Amino acid sequence: MACSAGAQTMATPVKWQNQRGSELTITSIDATGALKGTFVNKAEGFECQNTPFDVTGRLFRSSEIFFVVTFGPCNTVTRWRGNIRGSKMRTYWLLTYVRPKDGGFTRLSGVDRFEKK
Ligand code: BTN
Repeated sequence: MACSAGAQTMATPVKWQNQRGSELTITSIDATGALKGTFVNKAEGFECQNTPFDVTGRLFRSSEIFFVVTFGPCNTVTRWRGNIRGSKMRTYWLLTYVRPKDGGFTRLSGVDRFEKK
């Protein structure tokens, strides 16, 4: 069958680790590029560590990716967006923390470099 526009490939399951020690496991990618998996945060200075949280996202054109994690107990949502080259994935992330006391929010951003494990 002809390849549908946007259909993507990456062998799954696949595990990636970033420079903070956090682990992204992509368990499935469907024909449209929609991906699912888990993220275990191990970054110093952050909470919600060492617990797997659900990941959803999408792979485009085999090398462009975004994924998002809701760290429910921490009132935080983080979105990563970046590019894959071989066994390396460079991403920019944007974290939004919503304060439980007043609903106000704080945003943080940064770079995570992942390597395929
Ligand atoms: C929180 O502390 O509010 C929840 C955990 C957030 C972890 C962030 S997400 C971006 C950055 N990269 C990581 O691997 N961990 C931190």
